[in-house]
Amino acid sequence: MDIINSVEEMQQRALTARGNGQKIAFVPTMGYLHQGHLSLLEEGRRRGVLLVLSIFVNPTQFGQGEDFDDYPRDLRKDCALAEEVGVDLVFAPDAKQMYPSGYATYVDVERLTESLCGASRPGHFRGVTTVVNKLFNIVQPHVALFGCKDFQQLAVIRQMVTDLNMPVDVIGMPIVREEDGLAMSSRNVYLSAAQRLQALTLSAILGESAHRATAGERDPQVLIEAARQRIAELADARIDYIQICHQDSLEDMTQIDDNAVMLLAVYIGDTRLIDNGYLLR
Ligand code: PAF
Repeated sequence: MDIINSVEEMQQRALTARGNGQKIAFVPTMGYLHQGHLSLLEEGRRRGVLLVLSIFVNPTQFGQGEDFDDYPRDLRKDCALAEEVGVDLVFAPDAKQMYPSGYATYVDVERLTESLCGASRPGHFRGVTTVVNKLFNIVQPHVALFGCKDFQQLAVIRQMVTDLNMPVDVIGMPIVREEDGLAMSSRNVYLSAAQRLQALTLSAILGESAHRATAGERDPQVLIEAARQRIAELADARIDYIQICHQDSLEDMTQIDDNAVMLLAVYIGDTRLIDNGYLLR
């Protein structure tokens, strides 16, 4: 497995692979890999001849006062894990490589980015779509894999790929959870033991809501109110949003049907956690 820091070298390797008829599978990450990332890499291994992992904590998707400086990083461990799952190339550029002085171009997806995480993290998705666009240009993937835990991110990336006619097959992979239900996230490392226990309420809410929807509840507000009450019982929790949205438009639903996804963003202490689940599947 090779570790590449230079944009030019990565792009050259990708173009050569393409020239040789190799199919490139790509998993973009910000590192601090967990089982969720590894599931993407394993699927990528099945789908591509050349499997590329990028590790880049992208400054443009963090707002002021967010955790860019503190974001967990462990390149050595990430590379060891990557090698175990059969990654061929790790692309780990630094910020100067990706955003050299004079950098001035950004990609903005409208509408889908206005609600949910987009409303509470202004500029976040502009940073995500910009870096994913750049990474696609550098890595030249045929197929790229993303986790469904970032449900809105996946929808926004799909929209960008469609709108900009990018020849990349975007695959969304299921959320990977700890045995107790907590959705895997690099940010879980911030949680104290007591906070981690409280964090389990998020997946519990999704389970309970799906159960009630399956039993016939069709009013989103009933489930949202029940979820709000559950969170209010927690010592260290603060709700960012709890919404039930249409899977494609991400607009709030007035009646639950097969398209309904419940999306949660909740601070446990200073740690902002997100989770989601379909209500009728
Ligand atoms: O999901 C992430 O880890 C990041 O948002 C991504 C897609 C790697 C872009 O920096």
